[in-house]
Amino acid sequence: MNDRVMFVFGGASGIGAATAEALRDRGNRVVIFDAVDPVRSLDGVEYRIADVRDPAVGAIIEEVAQRTGPPAGLVYAVGVMDNHAFLEETTDELLDVVLDINVKGAVRVARAVAPAMRAVRYGRIVFIGSIAGVVAGAGGLAYTISKHALGGVVRSLAVEMAPDGVTVNCVAPGAISGTSISTRVVDQAKAAVPTARGTADLFGQSAEQLHPVGRIGTPGAVVASILHLLTPESWFVTGSTITVDGGYTAR
Ligand SMILES: NC(=O)c1ccc[n+]([C@@H]2O[C@H](COP(=O)([O-])OP(=O)(O)OC[C@H]3O[C@@H](n4cnc5c(N)ncnc54)[C@H](O)[C@@H]3O)[C@@H](O)[C@H]2O)c1
Repeated sequence: MNDRVMFVFGGASGIGAATAEALRDRGNRVVIFDAVDPVRSLDGVEYRIADVRDPAVGAIIEEVAQRTGPPAGLVYAVGVMDNHAFLEETTDELLDVVLDINVKGAVRVARAVAPAMRAVRYGRIVFIGSIAGVVAGAGGLAYTISKHALGGVVRSLAVEMAPDGVTVNCVAPGAISGTSISTRVVDQAKAAVPTARGTADLFGQSAEQLHPVGRIGTPGAVVASILHLLTPESWFVTGSTITVDGGYTAR
């Protein structure tokens, strides 16, 4: 895997940044799209400010793709949480924000990239889901709904794009250290749910105890599965969700 154009959405920090760095280190031409400046800038990686809630995001992506050529891979590592909000705290406003970013943004981005991938009859799309898309209780209500909905995006697009040589898959992490998802909740969501809770608070166990391997994951552990799905050799894997969760969903 090298000399390929890779678009990484949500690459300013966390899992997306680790993915962008790994792809760059393997000789790919990487473009990061994110709503905010990167936590740590990566040499040799192009960086574009783009908010996936903005209807103009498609035009930004198309403009970049015209310059770089069709992306061989798209990684959607954008995501916001809802501070583990319960039902009564889950306002329409909170639902709108979380679904707009975690689900509708994923569709907007795929819609902008699909024509270029279809034209060359090749593409690898990887969405970052969550164990909250496989089981409930790993996030709040809005987050859990959004990650379950993302499963629908993955399976629907996998079937639709299979004849075009484009695979569409999901990597669903358990708790991952060293990312900023818990602190970078968008302002609206923060305002809607002022009290941040952790999964541990909900279950009375530490995050480490909730994962059978006895510790939480790292961005690098997630990147390994993302890279696999981005290879040409993974052509027979589509519509799948790979859980990278230390056994969380196996119990
Ligand atoms: N960290 C975890 O424990 C964990 C667990 C399971 C799933 N995930 C998922 O992994 C993905 C990456 O999260 P992370 O842990 O690296 O957190 P993160 O906060 O470090 O990364 C998320 C990125 O999305 C970007 N983003 C948020 N809203 C955006 C918008 N409107 N437009 C463009 N970019 C936007 C942020 O700026 C940030 O760079 C998310 O989808 C998250 O739900 C994370």
